[in-house]
Amino acid sequence: MTTTSMRPHGGTLQSAPRTSHRPRSSHAQSVELSKRQIADLEMLVTGAYSPLNGYMVSADYRSTIIEMRLDNGTLWPMPIVFALPEPLALHVEEVHLSVRGIHVATLFITERYRADPEVEAEHVYGTTSLDHPGVKAIYEQGSYLYGGHVELHAIEPIVRHTHYLSPEQTRRAFQERGWRTIVAFQTRNPVHRAHEYLHKVALESVDGLLLHPLVGATKEDDVPAEVRMEAYKVLLENYYPTDRVILGVYPAAMRYGGPREAVLHALSRKNYGCTHFIVGRDHAGVGSFYDTYAAQRIFDGIDPAELGIEILRFEHSFYCTRCEQVVSLRTCPHGGSEHLTLSGTKVRELLRQGQELPKEFSRPEVAEVLRRAYQS
Ligand code: ADX
Repeated sequence: MTTTSMRPHGGTLQSAPRTSHRPRSSHAQSVELSKRQIADLEMLVTGAYSPLNGYMVSADYRSTIIEMRLDNGTLWPMPIVFALPEPLALHVEEVHLSVRGIHVATLFITERYRADPEVEAEHVYGTTSLDHPGVKAIYEQGSYLYGGHVELHAIEPIVRHTHYLSPEQTRRAFQERGWRTIVAFQTRNPVHRAHEYLHKVALESVDGLLLHPLVGATKEDDVPAEVRMEAYKVLLENYYPTDRVILGVYPAAMRYGGPREAVLHALSRKNYGCTHFIVGRDHAGVGSFYDTYAAQRIFDGIDPAELGIEILRFEHSFYCTRCEQVVSLRTCPHGGSEHLTLSGTKVRELLRQGQELPKEFSRPEVAEVLRRAYQS
């Protein structure tokens, strides 16, 4: 393992065949994609969800939910499906996937089937509560599912962000820099000092860091991707050895699936060519649906060789006013009264009220980016 020539999950990078020829079958229907569907499509067509080369058929859907494996036995944690709230007419064989009216890709339907959101919610998310944003999304997306492979016609309308790097491009970038070990960092929140601590501790033992903020659909009260990217830029300029870091967007939608999503995040970063993946406290969690280390424990039950990317686990970290640095209970002897922790909700509340974020929590340059974004 641990080299950048590392094999993608399932053996080969499954980027979608690209054809400028758009099929014009009379058995086709156009569908304008939602933000979440665009994110899934982008992950599929770039190979970031290898070995998937299209939307799941029912055997893979069911086996993923129950066994955490595709029907052929390959480790895979979450359904990736094309779902519609209303059924397509029976004669439809191709779906023209459109972004802002442009036909960007075609789904060739091999199977139509019905979703089972309750079973999916229970097994994949561990709850059927509609207060869970990931569960709510699977109910809202509709239960008519269409499995089949995808051909890509135009990537440009799908890609919405600067700092875009496909799995092929990150692999090439790692090679050009001569990095043999690369740690990936998943994040959907504004960067703070505990994040920085994880990055820098990891950088002590690997060659490079792929900062990989998720920029696909998130729940409404999460801080917008553009603001988070801006915060990363000022942080990198001021505090990071930039020759050892690559900032690239991770186009996926957030599912808030805790442990199962941690596995998805790890496997897709393996596809981007990374050798290590950070999993801290309550990774991909939301509210109190998962306990603090559930997303770490799920990896105890997975054969490391099959996973193919090394998990770097981190304890809950925070600033200690006595140590005057970011610490965890593994490294700090002081009590809770010395420890500064702020929840995401509290941070958003402070920003909405126009208050300063403490410098122990957030670098002043980052706090300024967030403050400006909230003021406007
Ligand atoms: S996540 O939904 O993408 O997991 P977030 O951006 O907050 O949310 O976290 C990114 C990564 O940093 C995750 O691996 C998470 O477990 C970890 N993390 C975030 N905050 C802390 C912290 N204070 N201590 C330890 N790990 C943390």
